[in-house]
Amino acid sequence: MTAMDAGTRPIITLDGPAASGKSSAAKAVAARLGIAYVSSGLLYRAATHMALAEGVPLGDERALLEMLARHDVRLWPDAQRDRLTVDGEEVAHLLHTDAIDARVSEVARLPRVRDWVTERLRELAGPFVIDGRDMGTAVFPQASVKFFLTADPEVRAARRAGERSGELRQVAERLRRRDEQDARQSAPAPDAIFLDTGPLTLEEVVERVLQDVRAALPLGAVER
Ligand code: CDP
Ligand code: CDP
Repeated sequence: MTAMDAGTRPIITLDGPAASGKSSAAKAVAARLGIAYVSSGLLYRAATHMALAEGVPLGDERALLEMLARHDVRLWPDAQRDRLTVDGEEVAHLLHTDAIDARVSEVARLPRVRDWVTERLRELAGPFVIDGRDMGTAVFPQASVKFFLTADPEVRAARRAGERSGELRQVAERLRRRDEQDARQSAPAPDAIFLDTGPLTLEEVVERVLQDVRAALPLGAVER
């Protein structure tokens, strides 16, 4: 993508730790702008799901890449929801489980798996809003507007506890472990706008993001 494209086919990135509110905000912002939403985490989750199903060891980078090459894995930018198909079958609804949460970082730490994900993402045509860990750094350093969402660990644990099984303390411990395992790919972009979502409602987060997007992009660049 060239600098020109950054204006005409904008990419808006939202990075941040688990349960910082990235995907809820990204989906709502995309819907308000009338453009697509993409979850980069779905590709790591899909690779983990497939490996668990096929008995491929999660630390075996070579075997994982062979597995990924054998299948047609596609991420579909969509205005409202997660969409990912493996060999034509929709699997997005199977990917947000405790089992995948617990193992996904083992797959995401492998450099060649990260390269595979980056290639899949760069094939997508903008405009879109995308969330993850390294969207504003490694994958789309030229993105039009970048955000880094944060929230205190207790706030994030309470949010995730509402969506998953287990005691709050257990959920908090799992999040802490995942933050630690994901630390390497989770540094904010130097030009990202920071937003602490802890004291904000989802609607307030969305309004703040939209304000900054409107300020940063030429009028009419994204809104239809
Ligand atoms: O929504 P949540 O932050 O819990 O998860 P996600 O965004 O679906 O990401 C799942 C996992 O994929 C993360 O814990 C990371 O291990 C990995 N991931 C990554 O390494 N880089 C990304 N850009 C997105 C996800
Ligand atoms: O994508 P990520 O893991 O960063 O977080 P999420 O799945 O968007 O948000 C986790 C939960 O927190 C969801 O149930 C959201 O509705 C909720 N949330 C919230 O209560 N307040 C916010 N400002 C943002 C999200």
